[in-house]
Amino acid sequence: ELLYTTRGIVDLEEKVRVKLGIDRVLITPGNLEEDEYVLEDLGKIAGKLIEKLAKDNTIIGVTGGTTMAAVGKKIPRQSKHKGIMVVPARGGLGREVENQANTISAEMARQLNADYRLLHASDTLGEKALESILQDPEIKEVIGIIKSADLLVFGIGRADKMAQRRELPDETVKKLERLKAVSEAFGYYFNRNGEIVHETNSIGIKFQEFQQIPNAIGVAGGVGKVEAILAISHLKKNMTLVTDEAAALEILKNS
Ligand code: F6P
Repeated sequence: ELLYTTRGIVDLEEKVRVKLGIDRVLITPGNLEEDEYVLEDLGKIAGKLIEKLAKDNTIIGVTGGTTMAAVGKKIPRQSKHKGIMVVPARGGLGREVENQANTISAEMARQLNADYRLLHASDTLGEKALESILQDPEIKEVIGIIKSADLLVFGIGRADKMAQRRELPDETVKKLERLKAVSEAFGYYFNRNGEIVHETNSIGIKFQEFQQIPNAIGVAGGVGKVEAILAISHLKKNMTLVTDEAAALEILKNS
């Protein structure tokens, strides 16, 4: 049963925060899987937080996906702070342009009155292509900026769904199943304990860099993503989770 009252939501946020052992949890009322507007609300909440955390010269890294696309659309306008930079944290997926980190970076930058850079690289490269692309001066510059990001805003996906979306080869899908991958974020696949079981061959943020970033905001809703969210909450204590009420209630049920 959903709560819907502000007081109830604040209590729920605190319970989930304690349960996950992370710094901050923000919850939007409702159930993403039953109501498409909940996605916009997730975007709004995450967007407001980004706007609040952004100061002069803040570097913001973003990933792709439908949830992050909602964040890009809903982030409020600001013009108080100067020198903000938005960069895609990983190479793009290639197909749906509006859900790519590149597009989301540009959109967010427009709202934040910020500068942005694009990462022109596929998310699934062969070793050789990866090596040569890393020599490109423009790509080197963007990667340098990503490494010094102050804030990373990222989507969280189910490992099986992401393997499908990325059309991973059968052997990789089997590997993910064998190693019990449940979660995917910024190019890494994790098991339920938050251990890396597979890494996408792509350019952008590395796991060690993620752990060093002062501020990270994971945005994901829907009961189906609860296992994925739980895995991510093991990665880093000083992170924020933005989720929906239905997922939050399920997190509390989960032991
Ligand atoms: O592909 C980018 C990405 O952020 C993944 O890292 C994540 O697993 C996925 O998108 C989430 O996608 P969605 O918000 O569409 O569920």
